[in-house]
Amino acid sequence: MTGVDLAIDLAGVALPNPVMTASGCAAAGRELDQFFDVSELGAVVTKSIMRDPRSGRPTPRMAETPSGMLNSIGLQGPGIDSFLANDLSWLTQRGARTIVSIAGSAVGEYAELASRVGASAGVSAIEVNISCPNVENRGLVFACDPAPASSVIAAVRGEVPSEIPVFAKLSPDVTDIVTIADAVMSAGATGLSMINTLLGIAIDPDTLRPVLGGVTGGLSGPAIRPVALRCVWQVHAAMPDVPIIGIGGIRTGFDALEFLLAGATAVQVGTVIFHDPSAPMRIVSELAAELADRGIKSPAEVVGFAHRSGDAE
Ligand SMILES: Cc1cc2nc3c(=O)[nH]c(=O)nc-3n(C[C@H](O)[C@H](O)[C@H](O)COP(=O)(O)O)c2cc1C
Repeated sequence: MTGVDLAIDLAGVALPNPVMTASGCAAAGRELDQFFDVSELGAVVTKSIMRDPRSGRPTPRMAETPSGMLNSIGLQGPGIDSFLANDLSWLTQRGARTIVSIAGSAVGEYAELASRVGASAGVSAIEVNISCPNVENRGLVFACDPAPASSVIAAVRGEVPSEIPVFAKLSPDVTDIVTIADAVMSAGATGLSMINTLLGIAIDPDTLRPVLGGVTGGLSGPAIRPVALRCVWQVHAAMPDVPIIGIGGIRTGFDALEFLLAGATAVQVGTVIFHDPSAPMRIVSELAAELADRGIKSPAEVVGFAHRSGDAE
């Protein structure tokens, strides 16, 4: 026994611990349930769901990079009807806390998805993936511009009962993440998930062409952890009361602790799951041990702690 109580309050939602799966890295939790009981996680964050079924981008859709990987899955998925009937109902029966990630190609699609998800039982929170091209504005990614990012969040908030928190998931591919964070919070977000992948490219040494069928892909894994931590740090410094879920390259309990120290209330674990499917629960116990080693009784005690010990920027 560590004497640590990992339970947290995330924007009014009680979770047994601060560790979640990251969207797109564990589907809807069924596969992981072979390795551990998914209801023991803080929450399962589901793969971003769109309104209609989608087959995603052309293959190859994965490339290894030093300390990370590039993916261009392109939001492959079964569409909202199948998701609600099969995946959400399975997670609810299983007793898992579920954060449903939604994605759209236009503001109206986000609103429609939010209304369907908000009216469903068993949803602890909604995470809005705004790293999607806006078909109504030359394919520019919503998350990269404060005005479209806020339009999506305002539309989602308008469709979701007030007791369900709405987390806006931000992209690091912006000049000033605090400006975007401020815009989506003013538009009605309850909190922020940070970060989504960084846009990258890899070139194949034989074909001398891009490795990925979709040319560009999202970089994830340990390579992005310092960038993710910096984003959490900057936003927590500017808005210390905003609940933040930290994401990016977390592999160990200490990595998770780093995010709490930078200002996150909870964390998500993504890429590590592909080579170590039991990582999320391992990280739960490692986090408890990291806190116990330092005489800390609860994750809430350390949220933003790193900001208190100096004026590093
Ligand atoms: C294969 C793959 C698929 C992903 N799919 C989604 C997705 O559907 N929605 C989303 O918001 N983020 C998606 N992400 C991004 C992750 O949720 C996470 O933000 C990112 O990978 C950084 O965390 P990590 O370094 O722990 O993987 C995906 C990442 C990977 C590697």
